[in-house]
Amino acid sequence: MTCLHNRHINPVILAGLNGQNWGLDDYVARGGYSVLKKILAEKTSPDDIINEMKLSALRGRGGAGFPTGLKWSFMPRQYPGQKYLVCNTDEGEPGTFKDRDIIRYNPHALIEGMTIAAYTMGISRGYNYIHGEIFEAYEIFEQALAQARAAGFLGQNILGSGFEFDLFAHHGYGAYICGEETALLESLEGKKGQPRFKPPFPASFGLYGKPTTINNTETFAAVPFLLKMGGQAYLDMGKPNNGGTKIFSISGDVNLPGNYEIPMGTPFSTLLELAGGVKGGKLKAVIPGGSSAPVLPAHIMMECTMDYDSISKAGSMLGSGAVIVMNDTRCMVKSLQRLSYFYYEESCGQCTPCREGTGWLWRMVERIENGQGRPEDLDLLDSVAGNIMGRTICALGDAAAMPVRSFVKHFRDEFAHHIEHKSCIVPEYR
Ligand SMILES: Cc1cc2nc3c(=O)[nH]c(=O)nc-3n(C[C@H](O)[C@H](O)[C@H](O)COP(=O)(O)O)c2cc1C
Repeated sequence: MTCLHNRHINPVILAGLNGQNWGLDDYVARGGYSVLKKILAEKTSPDDIINEMKLSALRGRGGAGFPTGLKWSFMPRQYPGQKYLVCNTDEGEPGTFKDRDIIRYNPHALIEGMTIAAYTMGISRGYNYIHGEIFEAYEIFEQALAQARAAGFLGQNILGSGFEFDLFAHHGYGAYICGEETALLESLEGKKGQPRFKPPFPASFGLYGKPTTINNTETFAAVPFLLKMGGQAYLDMGKPNNGGTKIFSISGDVNLPGNYEIPMGTPFSTLLELAGGVKGGKLKAVIPGGSSAPVLPAHIMMECTMDYDSISKAGSMLGSGAVIVMNDTRCMVKSLQRLSYFYYEESCGQCTPCREGTGWLWRMVERIENGQGRPEDLDLLDSVAGNIMGRTICALGDAAAMPVRSFVKHFRDEFAHHIEHKSCIVPEYR
């Protein structure tokens, strides 16, 4: 379990939490459910809510950073049949551990955020798909749902407003691919979790073929706070096009690994300082957005601020906000070997380039690591990765290819040393 600490900067979702105060009464005492109450009492127009969301520049916290207000505006609100709201707590990306802490320590923020989303899009049923290996989070969420139902914040005729929304928890079984939104929907329907062709997108053909909006846990949990302070104030906390705060899960070679909530646009160096600085050596490299984001060498990373635009300009992705820090005792070949095995293991096998290519990548990195690499392997790695990218139904193919291309690009000399000398350039690994 991640230890709760108070080393945040202007926290919003994680503010005032101590590990014990996750229940309904504590949430209400912190001002919780007041936004939902106000919206229902005043019958706020859904268009006004969507305009605030757009103004805030809240971007989806699941990985792609898609603008949330815009996504909500795609839902055909007047569709006469059933529509669904789905929360993605699959959280399987290596390095990411923020969503489970939101559920453990502030589950009602998620429930309030989802209920506001449901009101805005005219939806009466919702599901939260929770990763199978974090069963404790699932159990806490079930308790929080029971509290919210008993208090009239969920169910029929919420707070006497006539609005109906019921929300259910569903736990998966731990497959990474079930975090991809359409594989998640298949799994929720009780089928094998394999991604669907898009288009059609979930907004028109989602759960059980009905219009569906899917957002990440952190995205929904931010909504009550955003609407309470107003879209402009939320935007001002971050930087243009990157509104608000973001929770970063920092792991690897830092003294204080954990979740840190900071404003978008905070320098990486400040985040590193909050996390107690680099442990056991000098900073060598950072994976800034979960294991599928391209790795960046220290000198590039130290120039970045923590927001979508800055990290993308530097050649990587903010992704889910999982920051994996590596010091100069780390072998980049060994690190890539581990990452490549993950993607090989987790490919669902539906698309040939991913099913076959992830195995080729892993086996090539494995043989370089084991001293059996060939001089042509580095160009071959890049070519295989390049042939996976953009040729699969979902982005798992890209997620497998991007680490390979970036590790070889930025640390080519280490890979070449392994091939030529059959040993590691890093003394600790020889
Ligand atoms: C292989 C793969 C795994 C993913 N895993 C997750 C996940 O665990 N959690 C998540 O929120 N999004 C995940 N995504 C992104 C989702 O498909 C989707 O974009 C996201 O849930 C949308 O929410 P947002 O707009 O709030 O970010 C994954 C995508 C891919 C391709």
